[in-house]
Amino acid sequence: MTRVWLSRLLHVLLNACASASLVNTTFVNELDFDCSLFWHGADSGPRKDFGPLLAGGQKVLEAYEGHIFTLARAGTLTPLLRVQIDSTARRHVLNTQTGASSASNASAAELTSCAATAAAASLLQCRNAADSCAGCVRMPSCGWSMVRRQCVPAHPIAARRTCDESKAEDIEGRSAEQWLQLAESLMDPESASFGLASLQAAYEALEHGKQAATVAAATAVATSETLSSILRWQAEVRPKLEGVLDDMDAEELIAASRHASLLSLSVRPRVVSRRKTADALDFLSRAEPVVITDLFDTNSSHPVPQKWTLEYLKRFMHKGFYNVAADNRSACCQYYEPRRVAAEAGYPYPFRPRTHLYKDHFAGFVETLRASRASQASQASGEPSGESSRSSLLHHYLHDVLMERDGTPVVAGEAATPQVAADLSATVTALRPLSRMQPFFAGIANAKLWVGQKGVTMPLHYDSSDNLYVMAWGRKRAILAEPGQYGALYPYPNAHPLAGSSQVNLQDPDLARHPGFADAVLWETVVGPGDVLYLPGYWWHQFEQPFEDTASVNLWSYELEDGLPPSVRDARMRTSVLHDHLEREMTKAFKNKAGVVLAAMASGSGAHKKARARANRTLYEAAEGWKSWMATLPNPDPVEPPEKLVEAFLERYRDILKQRWRGWAPGVEWNLSQMTALEVHLQARCEPAPKTATYASVCRFLG
Ligand SMILES: *[C@@H]1O[C@H](CO)[C@@H](O)[C@H](O)[C@H]1NC(C)=O
Ligand SMILES: *[C@@H]1O[C@H](CO)[C@@H](O)[C@H](O)[C@H]1NC(C)=O
Ligand SMILES: *[C@@H]1O[C@H](CO)[C@@H](O)[C@H](O)[C@H]1NC(C)=O
Ligand SMILES: *[C@@H]1O[C@H](CO)[C@@H](O)[C@H](O)[C@H]1NC(C)=O
Ligand SMILES: *[C@@H]1O[C@H](CO)[C@@H](O)[C@H](O)[C@H]1NC(C)=O
Ligand SMILES: *[C@@H]1O[C@H](CO)[C@@H](O)[C@H](O)[C@H]1NC(C)=O
Repeated sequence: MTRVWLSRLLHVLLNACASASLVNTTFVNELDFDCSLFWHGADSGPRKDFGPLLAGGQKVLEAYEGHIFTLARAGTLTPLLRVQIDSTARRHVLNTQTGASSASNASAAELTSCAATAAAASLLQCRNAADSCAGCVRMPSCGWSMVRRQCVPAHPIAARRTCDESKAEDIEGRSAEQWLQLAESLMDPESASFGLASLQAAYEALEHGKQAATVAAATAVATSETLSSILRWQAEVRPKLEGVLDDMDAEELIAASRHASLLSLSVRPRVVSRRKTADALDFLSRAEPVVITDLFDTNSSHPVPQKWTLEYLKRFMHKGFYNVAADNRSACCQYYEPRRVAAEAGYPYPFRPRTHLYKDHFAGFVETLRASRASQASQASGEPSGESSRSSLLHHYLHDVLMERDGTPVVAGEAATPQVAADLSATVTALRPLSRMQPFFAGIANAKLWVGQKGVTMPLHYDSSDNLYVMAWGRKRAILAEPGQYGALYPYPNAHPLAGSSQVNLQDPDLARHPGFADAVLWETVVGPGDVLYLPGYWWHQFEQPFEDTASVNLWSYELEDGLPPSVRDARMRTSVLHDHLEREMTKAFKNKAGVVLAAMASGSGAHKKARARANRTLYEAAEGWKSWMATLPNPDPVEPPEKLVEAFLERYRDILKQRWRGWAPGVEWNLSQMTALEVHLQARCEPAPKTATYASVCRFLG
């Protein structure tokens, strides 16, 4: 998270607003559709979205004379009405006279087209309509799910519109071994016809192979090795061919996997809307999460949802090292700023990392996942397993950068292979129309790959950029929370290795320690292959994989240079941004002693008198700067005097200290005694990383 905005903005804003005066201005929308109101400052592109101006509604803003505002149809940026604030005209009405000419334009037409799309069939309707593939595909809005063996709503990844045409005698004529060979050739990522259709056909062939193996077993032909290969491949391909089929399916999945703890919240979690692209634009423009369901619903090639499998990535990823995290089953994974020696980084908090961060070759990671799945399968079938039962104690989660700013395909620090580079470029092309709808979008900052086992959780945290999240295989459950909510979600303090994460364990919250959590306002969703989740910056998110193994690629965007940072545009985050600002100024002034000095300030004792006087000055100056800067916004919040701001900040700091960080001192070494040890079979090919590394082990895979 980079937060280098304040001086730049102070410069821009103080210059722009030095002598302007404030005018109460009323904006009225007399049209029959919702609009968005944007502030442009005195001269440039949109800097702040003031949210919706609903059809028939109005909004009053205290704004600076000379500043420009525009009204656009919700979900678009094309101005329907442009207003320059003027003390002689305080009321601006958007109606068919003032805005109609441009209202009839392309973007508006695009938005209404969604209403014309035929209503989709529901899960229930398709389920009841047919119980064979042939009957199912006769219905125009249903498709056949290979995995569920059921008629379901048509879905770009998880349902077929054609049926497998093998004749009965072909099926009976082939042995399990032959079906396996056929499936393996269909799944070969290097074959010219490789793609979603061949994966679907492969899954079908494995299904036939399974039946043939059962018949063969009855006649005592030895097929157990073939059968276990068939089952292994099916387990690997199945998540690729699953999806979230429609709203009803999403609701069933959410309900089936919801943590009991979330049912006792005072506000029932909301469900993130699932929308087609045309309808989703509105959500994007006002920075509200949405699942876009039809982006890959075309005939063009979309490699991530249609082609990427574990085997595909193993074949095409370069041979260098990748970041992997491992932790025990109930706890994977905790991500921290991976410095091993607190003194170096100036962390003032005692910290006992638990997750084991390591490097491995991609093929080594694939081996780990496959071995773990095999040992679970053998446990499930009741086979005794000494070493293998121990080997499944940990969860592993690969996470590495796939692309750098503006699309340079750098994968885990090295140039991407041509195949992966082409796939990433196709993904950026597919997502670009969405990113353009984000009012402050300036480009793709980078992309990250996440490959993990069923059961992995990435605990609640937030990032500062807008995020488009694409599933490659498997379904993920996400718990989201609106920005801010510090009183409910208890973020770790700045400079803590877990800064940006919540201290609350959503699976098992400790309400004695985090009583405010009862009032948290959460959102839930489930996303699968074919879906894209739009996750705006600063929204809290926890990703879980309760259903199956998963992989996803996410793209973060960066914002227009002259835009206000989202942290300040959004009133939900202002207090926390102010506190971050004060703390950052202290860290600048006192380096790794900042924590000690702050503790002295908060507790009213300790530290030299001189240091405290300087700290007091630092905090006051920072609070003054904030106050005058705040006043330049067109909708300033009432800002308290600096002494009140500093007092509130120290109060919060006092809470943090009192409750949680007793052993706190500058330069404390991290205590590594609780770091999870890698499994025995991994230890055999891993060695401890050098002391200065940002990870704990390096594993080499020569197989
Ligand atoms: C705008 O209106 C509010 C509420 O009536 C008032 O408190 C405020 O002083 C007005 N601002 C200006 C600049 O007139
Ligand atoms: C409609 O939009 C196009 C650009 O997309 C623009 O050139 C044209 O002037 C607009 N028409 C009206 C009537 O605003
Ligand atoms: C996709 O391809 C099929 C078969 O080639 C064709 O019938 C269908 O109209 C195409 N759909 C789109 C959206 O282009
Ligand atoms: C996994 O971690 C949890 C919490 O840290 C701990 O209670 C549990 O004993 C651990 N389990 C194993 C098998 O190490
Ligand atoms: C801190 O600084 C402010 C402003 O200079 C001053 O009014 C206040 O008395 C100081 N407080 C302490 C405790 O020194
Ligand atoms: C690390 O923590 C363990 C308890 O988890 C404690 O027994 C040990 O003394 C600590 N080591 C250091 C160097 O503080």
